[in-house]
Amino acid sequence: MKIAMLSRAPNLYSHTRLKEAGLARGHEFDIINTTRCYMNIASRRPEIYYNGEKLPLYDAVIPRIGASVTFYGLAVLRQFEMMGVYPVNESVAIGRSRDKLRSLQLLARDGIGLPVTTFAHDPKQTEEVVKVAGGAPMVIKLLEGTQGIGVVLADTDRSARSVIEAFRGVNINILVQEFIKEAGGTDIRAFVIGGKVVAAMKRTGAEGDFRSNLHRGGSAAVVKISPEERSTAIRAAKSMGLNVCGVDMLRSNHGPVVMEVNSSPGLEGVEKATGKDIAGMIIDHVEKSAVPGKTRTKGRG
Ligand SMILES: Nc1ncnc2c1ncn2[C@@H]1O[C@H](COP(=O)(O)OP(=O)(O)O)[C@@H](O)[C@H]1O
Ligand SMILES: [Mg+2]
Repeated sequence: MKIAMLSRAPNLYSHTRLKEAGLARGHEFDIINTTRCYMNIASRRPEIYYNGEKLPLYDAVIPRIGASVTFYGLAVLRQFEMMGVYPVNESVAIGRSRDKLRSLQLLARDGIGLPVTTFAHDPKQTEEVVKVAGGAPMVIKLLEGTQGIGVVLADTDRSARSVIEAFRGVNINILVQEFIKEAGGTDIRAFVIGGKVVAAMKRTGAEGDFRSNLHRGGSAAVVKISPEERSTAIRAAKSMGLNVCGVDMLRSNHGPVVMEVNSSPGLEGVEKATGKDIAGMIIDHVEKSAVPGKTRTKGRG
């Protein structure tokens, strides 16, 4: 098969692993710098150009689109979809998962456990928003934050109000969320491929940090998840429409609650913590799914 991976960082652990796994299974594997692609949209036969040449027709595309280039990256991915290339994750699904408000609304619609979460536009409603979220301590997050940046813990109602007012005052969209204290700074990342949880790890924040992101100095360890956590992760992936994703959950007093679903989950933490060949499993999934004519999307939606 001819596989393309959209990525601007070919040397990242996840990306070198995916390439290795693709080559080891006898596939052609090209890494394409997303932002260097340019496209002929008007043509009836959709085309993508790269380094002065038209890209060949690939069988599958693995999107690894960084948060800072979501807008253009998804446009490039849609173009691949219009050409009938099988996307490991569809552009629409990635778009949903990148917006924390939109994704929580979709998860709520499907009855998936979530932390109590509120959202308001007008800073005049700050008082109410704090009340509805259950009061301090509470978590305030940027809608499109990632790697733990833009996630704030407010210990008192007063500090919550000033953080909310500060963000809203400069028109930044935020979520205000119940703080799941009982999780003790540890979250669960379930790695889902093709509707199955293939690995799970628990991540614990660095000393003194409630955020367990590995990018913030958190550490990962293998964990056995409960059947309820497993089914929550599978349902969350389905709700987003993601074939490959990392579902982040907290162990709350009222069962597992989902914080977010990541469409480009890192492989390093999970492979090292569990000893599993996740990159190989992603390529196996591509082999099973990228059958000509099976691509559901044509870049619509
Ligand atoms: N409501 C919450 N209660 C307790 N901890 C939280 C809550 N929301 C987030 N966290 C912690 O902060 C981390 C980052 O939050 P998350 O919503 O995943 O943002 P990001 O997209 O930046 O990773 C989580 O992995 C978790 O450890
Ligand atoms: Mg996260």
